[in-house]
Amino acid sequence: MNIWTFDQEKDLNTTGAGLIAALLQSKPKAVLGLATGSSPVGIYNELIDMYRRGLVSFANASSFNLDEYVGLPVDHSESYRSFMNEKLFKHVDIKLENTHVPDGNAPDPDAECAHYEQLVNDHGPVDIQLLGIGHNGHIGFNEPGANLTGGTHVVDLKEETLKANARFFPSFDDVPKQAMTMGVASILKAKQILLVARGEDKAEIIRTALRGPITTECPASLLQCHPNVIVLLDRGAGRFM
Ligand code: GLP
Repeated sequence: MNIWTFDQEKDLNTTGAGLIAALLQSKPKAVLGLATGSSPVGIYNELIDMYRRGLVSFANASSFNLDEYVGLPVDHSESYRSFMNEKLFKHVDIKLENTHVPDGNAPDPDAECAHYEQLVNDHGPVDIQLLGIGHNGHIGFNEPGANLTGGTHVVDLKEETLKANARFFPSFDDVPKQAMTMGVASILKAKQILLVARGEDKAEIIRTALRGPITTECPASLLQCHPNVIVLLDRGAGRFM
C-alpha cells in the first residue's frame, strides 16, 4: 500500500487527478470506478480543469459508480446520479450513456443489484477505483458488521451513516434509509484503488483501516488485501500515519 500525505489540498487533488488522467492518456477506453461524498470533489475539479486545458479526454471512457440511495428520485439534488452529473459528467466529454450508477428506483432492487454487478463484470475490470471512507470504515455503503456481502446489494444504512449524511438533507428523517452498493468483493476486483481521505475527523478510522486488523467490522481494512492501493491523505487525515 502506498500512503501519501499532503500538506496542500491542491497537491493532493492534482496527484489524484494526475493518476486518472495518466490512465486515460495511456488507455482512452479506461473503465473508471467513481465515488461520491466530499472526498473526491477536489479531484473531480482538477480533472475538469485538465479537460478544459485539453490535457485529458473522457470521450471513450466509461464509468461505474459505487452506490446510490434507494427510493430517492433520480433528479433529486442529493441522488448520487445528480451528484455525478453536477460535479463531473456535465463538465467533461464523457458520454452520459457510458456512465453507470445503480438505479435506486428500480421496481425490483435485488434484481437491479444483480444486473449492475453483471454490468460491471461485463465491462470490467475497473482500471482505477476512487474511494472515500466513512467515519465507521464503510467503503461505498458497505457498513461494518459480522458479515459482508461480496457483490452489489441493498443495504440498510447504519445510524451513524444516516447522521453523517443528514447534512445534505433538510432533516434526518429525509435521509434515505437504504442504499444499493457494490460489495467489497466487487470493489476489490479493480486493478488499482485510490483511497482519499481528508480532515482530522478521518485520522482515527484511517489508522484503524490501514494499520489495524483486517476485519468486516471495518470494511475499509479489507483494502489491505489488495495488491495495488494508493492512499491520498491530507495532513489531518494522515495525522497518525
Ligand atoms: C457516503 C458514500 C461513501 C463515502 C462516504 C464518505 O456514505 N456512500 O462512498 O466515501 O460517504 O463521505 P465524505 O467523503 O463526504 O466524508
